[in-house]
Amino acid sequence: MTYINDEIIEKVKESIDIVNIISDYIHLKRSGSNYIGLCPFHNEKTPSFTVSDTKQIFHCFGCGEGGDAVSFIMKMENLDFPDAIKFLADKLGIEIEVTSKIDSNYKDEKAKTYEINKEAARFFYYNLVNNTAPLEYLRKRSISSKVIRQFGLGYSLDSWDSLYKYLKSKNYTNEEIEKTGLIGKKSGNNGYYDKFRNRIIFPIIDTKSRIIGFGGRVLDKSMPKYLNSPDTLVFNKGNHLYGLNLVNKYSDRKRILLVEGYMDVISLFNNGINYCVASLGTALTEKQSKLIKRYGDEVYICYDSDQAGIKATLRAIDIMLKLDMNPKIISLPEGMDPDDFIKAKGIFEFEKLFINAYNHVDFKVRILKNKYNIDILEEKIKFTTKVANIIKELKSPIEQDGYIDKISKETGISRDAIEREIKGNNTIKKKSTFANNAFFSKENIKPIKSILPSAHLKAEIELVKLMIKEKDFFDYISNKLDINNFSSVECKFVYEQLNIIYKDIENIDEEVLFNKILEIPNLDMNTINLIFENNSKYKATDISKIIDDLIKTVILNNLLNKRKEMLTKIEELEKKTRSAIEDNALKKLCLDLIAINNEINLNN
Ligand code: CTP
Ligand code: MN
Repeated sequence: MTYINDEIIEKVKESIDIVNIISDYIHLKRSGSNYIGLCPFHNEKTPSFTVSDTKQIFHCFGCGEGGDAVSFIMKMENLDFPDAIKFLADKLGIEIEVTSKIDSNYKDEKAKTYEINKEAARFFYYNLVNNTAPLEYLRKRSISSKVIRQFGLGYSLDSWDSLYKYLKSKNYTNEEIEKTGLIGKKSGNNGYYDKFRNRIIFPIIDTKSRIIGFGGRVLDKSMPKYLNSPDTLVFNKGNHLYGLNLVNKYSDRKRILLVEGYMDVISLFNNGINYCVASLGTALTEKQSKLIKRYGDEVYICYDSDQAGIKATLRAIDIMLKLDMNPKIISLPEGMDPDDFIKAKGIFEFEKLFINAYNHVDFKVRILKNKYNIDILEEKIKFTTKVANIIKELKSPIEQDGYIDKISKETGISRDAIEREIKGNNTIKKKSTFANNAFFSKENIKPIKSILPSAHLKAEIELVKLMIKEKDFFDYISNKLDINNFSSVECKFVYEQLNIIYKDIENIDEEVLFNKILEIPNLDMNTINLIFENNSKYKATDISKIIDDLIKTVILNNLLNKRKEMLTKIEELEKKTRSAIEDNALKKLCLDLIAINNEINLNN
């Protein structure tokens, strides 16, 4: 059997995108926050196989099969676990080397660090339960012995080397102990000292229940209030979240709540909220946000209600938006953190805050409202510009529109003013990719809508809609119609984009496409909305006939337009005294007209 080391397994698991992997086998369509398709493990006609992008799992409601990307490959390719990892590693371009000496040393060192951390945590716990001062401190903060055990809390003695001595008595070498970051070298190379002294200890535990680091709080007002382990072989602050081990174990992953502090997580958990994590005394990182995305469908942020907390919230929002997350913000009374709030008002009041959580836009707008006095014209202008910038960043135009409306009502600033601000910024910032395309130059964009027979426009729109929905439809239709067959400029643009996108990917992200189209000036919004309206009404069984009919309608319209042009030319030529060349041209036009009439009859 193949042996693959844990590093590689972890690396593969971290790099996999389940949607990508499964898309190689079956056609997946986006449906809400998930993807659906026909189950490859049993026979079905209507899709009941779902894939969750955020949770990185699949599940079939038809046959009950489910799991992560690795189990999918195991089943699909009939492989055992190591071979499935190997298969995926190949796909991801991750090299699986034969375990070298260096690798195994590194692995041993890490294992040693975990082991010493565990030993240290035991020592800290023992110190806690045998010392009244720290126990009294925790009791005052309403932390029960059950919670102490659940979080593995501890206490580091008020001594310079008790931990060091303890670990030495367990036969660990100085070098090994040093790698945990728990001890430091005394100056002058004169032995070692404990870094955590006289502090409540918060072990930081990963989702595999390994102790990766520690936080420590003083029992009084001395500084620094908190100390944390430095980054080590097994600990990188930006990659972990405090509390994630318990969220992993207990939460149903519907919600996740991000807070600032160790004590907030503990206090919330103590009150039955098992979906809470804290970033580890650092500004939230992208990696942490990705974890948050994985561990909860709805994301809430509840940082301390002070200047630092607000700043950190704004940062967190922006990081999360980049990852297509949609965080909501719980706002506490000035100066409070979640732990204070629960102590003061109880958990019931805290839970109520979820209902009134701010959408991230509302939150930002509220901050701006506090900053500017919109009764003063100058400040009102500044306020409007800032709000417009926020709305501009929203991906969905419908959402944008909703906010323009809301802000306008709330502030008395006209819709028009906000819109102008947004559009103004848009045209400056975004340079359309179409700008360089001669065919789509401004002169070519005429209001074509008025001369289109409505049945024909409808056919064009329906075809474009179908092409957006499925690549197979696109392939079929684009084989029969090229861009010039479409008369609606809006449809032309979408067609053009599809042509580009489908070269690389199988599935269209409608929102991205929609936004791309919106970048083009002077388009008819009615048509655009009709194209992106979600109202597919066709049965799978008669779809090919419908498509053929729609194509026929479009072709017929092309012919009718062509005939119209010819008739105009013929009329012009007939009216005037013609040269011999023009006479010939007229004769040719008349022959062409007969041909086109025949074609029209055939297509009608
Ligand atoms: N923190 C840190 N280092 C510090 C201060 C804070 O790592 N010197 C981190 C800790 O994770 C802490 C969080 O930032 O839990 C929030 O800090 P703060 O609001 O000052 O502490 P609280 O969590 O409110 O702690 P307590 O309730 O115990 O005072
Ligand atoms: Mn606090």
